[in-house]
Order: sequence, then structure tokens, then C-alpha cells
Amino acid sequence: MNKPLLQISPYFDEQEEIELLEVVRSIWLIERSKNDLLEKIFSEFTGAPFSVTCSNASVGIFMSLIACGIGRASLVGSEADEVIVPDITFVATINAILLAGARPVVVDINEYDAHINVVNIKKAITKNTKAIMPVHLYGGMADIVAIQELADRNNLVIIEDAAQAVGVKLDGRHAGTFGRFGVFSLYGNKIITCGEGGIVVCQNADDRDKIYRIKNHGRLKKGAFIHEEIGYNFSFTDLQAAVAIAQMKKINYIISRKRAINTQYRELLKNSRVSFLESPQNIDETFWFTNVLCDDAEEMANKLAIENIQSRRLFYPIHLQPCYKNKQLIQLDGEYNNADKLFKRLLSLPSSVSLTADEIESVASVIKK
Ligand SMILES: Cc1ncc(COP(=O)(O)O)c(C=O)c1O
Repeated sequence: MNKPLLQISPYFDEQEEIELLEVVRSIWLIERSKNDLLEKIFSEFTGAPFSVTCSNASVGIFMSLIACGIGRASLVGSEADEVIVPDITFVATINAILLAGARPVVVDINEYDAHINVVNIKKAITKNTKAIMPVHLYGGMADIVAIQELADRNNLVIIEDAAQAVGVKLDGRHAGTFGRFGVFSLYGNKIITCGEGGIVVCQNADDRDKIYRIKNHGRLKKGAFIHEEIGYNFSFTDLQAAVAIAQMKKINYIISRKRAINTQYRELLKNSRVSFLESPQNIDETFWFTNVLCDDAEEMANKLAIENIQSRRLFYPIHLQPCYKNKQLIQLDGEYNNADKLFKRLLSLPSSVSLTADEIESVASVIKK
């Protein structure tokens, strides 16, 4: 292939330009009416009663923890608040917990769907556990019903890292709306994007106000200078909201294309040596990325790279990350066999909305070679 085939690229047309121009001409670049409209559209789409935009999902996770009162305890000794997380995620999940002053307790995943394993969560619960943070990966969903039961029985909060999960549903209910908070990312490679950005969803006005205060210097109104709480500046802008609105207007098309791309890959690779992750649940997956399981993901990535086809490896498991080595801040004493196995085997294929049927065929034929 002459032209490099990117693993992922955003799907833009003139709608983003029209929306952006409107904001620039209005001179109101800060968070204002476009932001309000985006929050309304996002709530309607997800069914979450409240949506609050923020600078990115990383701070969205941080704010959700702070809003739940988690993480203020000392990190020294065994008394730190603990948050149970999967070994396969982007480091932002872990680092947002550290930023809040809590201890991430890292557990292994399922081999069949790459999501957090519920039996491992159960084993990791201690008297210091305050929250479970499932991470919904690649357009799929963790076993949220079982996690909810476990959380209810143990009086734990659920904060869903739904950074990758715009559009993902279980029996019609959107990812991110099962827990007390759900956090979505609008980063450049996500299913909808405005470069950087995040949206926190929640179920009641009290939690909405808590998040809003944390992101807005501890107050509910901009331009007021009495601050009820300690807060920060994690605001969004109307420039970002304009692009995200244009993206949300075509979200159904984007998801339908992702599903069609996944179906074509599955069809073409049916009798090949690669296989696919399978969820046992009744999930409407979005297939943000189409992933295959190969004997050796690195070898397959190299084979594709020779043909100018970009692919992406699974997140490097948290328990192997150099940044956490010999640190007391994070609990990494489990077994991580499934994460290790999937890291060796999983490869994300080109999955952009703009892929043509011929391009998908070329990728599949290199895989089958
Ligand atoms: C699983 C997961 N969590 C958190 C994040 C952080 O999102 P953001 O880049 O918006 O801070 C990402 C983004 O890549 C992610 O994939």
C-alpha cells in the first residue's frame, strides 16, 4: 500500500468548520451557550440526567473521586482509600486515582473480553476499599451488572472510566450511567473528538454541582468571587463544544460505520489464524477499534507496517509499567496472567470511519498472508 493507512483518524466534514466559525465570530470563546448545548445533547444521547464538560477525561476521573470524598486519606501505611482498577487500561486511569490521593489496587482482566474480572475485584476488597473503577474498552463494556451487585453488597461507589465508550449500551442503557459517575473522553483518537476534552455524567443535581464547583474554582457561577469550595480550573471552551456538537450530530453514522467495518473484517478473517474478543453480555458494541487475537501481536504489527498499515498494540499492562516500579503508591500484588497473555496476542486494526472496503480487504489479505 503506497499511502500509509492510519490505525485511527477523526471523521470531520464541513459541519465542524461551520460550528467553529460561529463561535469565533461571536467572540465568546469561553464555556458558554455551545457548551450548554453540548451537555444537553450528550445527556439526551446517553440518558444521563446530568452531563458536565471538562478539560479531559483524566481530570474528569480525578473530579469524580474528589466529589465522592475519596482519596483525602494519607498514602502512608494501609489506611489510604483504595480504588480497584483493571491491569489493562491507559495510565490516566491509575494516575487520576493517585492525583486524588487514593491507592489504585490493580487486578487482572478476563481473557475473553479484556475487561476487569469480577472474581478478582471481589478478592481485592478490603476495609479500605472505597470504589470500583471499571474501564470500558474499545467500544465494549465491563460486566457492569455483576460489578453493581458487588458494589451494592459492599457499600462501594462505582466510577466508570467510559473514556472509550461513547455509544456503548447494555440492554439499551448507556455505559457510564450505571455508576455514580461516568467519565468520557473527547481526545483526538476517540469515537467523537474535539482534540481534547471530557464529559462527566451523573444521576442527580447535587453530584452535578459538586463536579461543576471542582472544575470552576469552587463556585457555581463564573464571574462570582465568593468560592464555597476549593476548586480548580478544568473548564472546557465553546471552541471545543462547537466541534463536539458537530461530531455528536453524526454519532449514529459513525457508530454504524464502525460496526460495518467490524463485520467486514470478521467476514474476511473467518477462516484465518486470527480470532476476535467476544463479550458474553448483550452489549451494543461500537467497535471503536476492531481488534484481533494473533499468535504474536508484535510480529503481526511488523508484517502490517511493512505494507504501510498502522496498527496498535494493547495497552502495556499496568503491572509492567516502569513508572510504577518499586513505588508503594499502587498495589500490584495480584496475578496478571490474562493481561500478559492478551498483551502478547491483541492487535487493534485500522478502524477509521473513512476506511474503504478495498482498504479493509488489503489489511485482511496481509493478515492472512
Ligand atoms: C481508558 C482511558 N481512560 C482515560 C483516558 C484519558 O482521557 P483523556 O485523554 O481525555 O484525559 C483515556 C484516553 O485515552 C483512556 O483511553
